Amino acid sequence: MSQKWMLKPGEGPDSLRLVDLPPEPLSSGSVRVALKAWSLNARDFMVAHGQSPVPVAPELIPLSDAAGIVEEVANDVVRVRVGDRVVVTFNPAHQSGSFEPHMAAHAHGEMAQGLLARERVVDQMAVVKLTDNLTLEQAACLPCAAVTVWNALFEAGPLFPGQTVLATGTGTISLTAMQLAKAAGARFGITSSDPAKLEKAMQLGADFGVNYRKRPDWDVAVKEATDGKGADVVLETAGPPSVATAVRAAAQNGRVAQIGLKAMDGPAISMLDLMLSGVRVVPIMVGSRVMLERVVAAASVNALNIPVEESFPFADAHAAFYAAASGTGFGKIVISN
Ligand SMILES: NC(=O)c1ccc[n+]([C@@H]2O[C@H](COP(=O)([O-])OP(=O)(O)OC[C@H]3O[C@@H](n4cnc5c(N)ncnc54)[C@H](OP(=O)(O)O)[C@@H]3O)[C@@H](O)[C@H]2O)c1
Repeated sequence: MSQKWMLKPGEGPDSLRLVDLPPEPLSSGSVRVALKAWSLNARDFMVAHGQSPVPVAPELIPLSDAAGIVEEVANDVVRVRVGDRVVVTFNPAHQSGSFEPHMAAHAHGEMAQGLLARERVVDQMAVVKLTDNLTLEQAACLPCAAVTVWNALFEAGPLFPGQTVLATGTGTISLTAMQLAKAAGARFGITSSDPAKLEKAMQLGADFGVNYRKRPDWDVAVKEATDGKGADVVLETAGPPSVATAVRAAAQNGRVAQIGLKAMDGPAISMLDLMLSGVRVVPIMVGSRVMLERVVAAASVNALNIPVEESFPFADAHAAFYAAASGTGFGKIVISN
């Protein structure tokens, strides 16, 4: 028998229950992964509370992000071997290129079953082999947040050394962006409502910080911090309410990667601002298996050290979900075996 956590979306983390089910059978091209580390994302909390903007299954194994060890492979598997350390992709249907609507139903932990289980059987194309310098805990932080950041920084347009990246808020997207942007030789700015979090971000390598509560005109503050230029790439994580400000914080011909889903309504972006500034607003929908491979390759050269706020044992899934919900933390909530 194999243990899995089951969640009833809309009924909150209290609906989580641990069930023992027979092991899933292997089919052609599939691999059995003994999962050892998981991480939570904002979307898992939204799924649990019935706040997901996309359809979700009535009952499901939650979570999209997990890493582990290949335990068994079907006869025709060529990409990995038993004993390999691997990370599972966010959406097995998104292998490369741009996101397409038919892929939506396949993201783990929404319509498709997720990964908060002792083991899962997945297609060989849904795993990426890890390099030695990535711990399973760090690898479990990559499939959603790091791939989203990678997509925004390097696939949605170029990022050159010496350019400036700005990320809004000190959520896990922004803290991951700091690691990848600094590794690429960029200058990195961050916004927060909390001076203590700004201080921590500066200690971890941010070049400038802006308190968006004290400075509702944070676009002006970003221009002040960049000699009037603005940020070449803005990772906008708050959602539509701050996109218009993010466009004004961007440099001439820069880009705003639209990532946040927290609030869906906000002030209209001025078309004149867009035309005069040449700023491109690019929607980001996580990313592909190829992008996850690129993140892992990048991490093998410049070690990633994504901040972890707290780590819980597998048996304490409820506590992990509540910790992820608080919004007061600084770093990933991880579950580890
Ligand atoms: N499009 C995609 O593919 C994709 C992928 C992953 C995540 N997301 C979305 O991206 C968002 C961020 O994800 P996350 O994992 O970083 O979430 P998170 O860890 O829950 O981030 C929470 C942080 O957001 C910041 N925040 C809240 N309201 C804000 C505002 N009005 N202005 C600026 N910052 C604000 C706060 O920072 P301070 O406490 O520092 O103020 C808060 O700590 C979520 O909406 C998530 O659903 C989208």
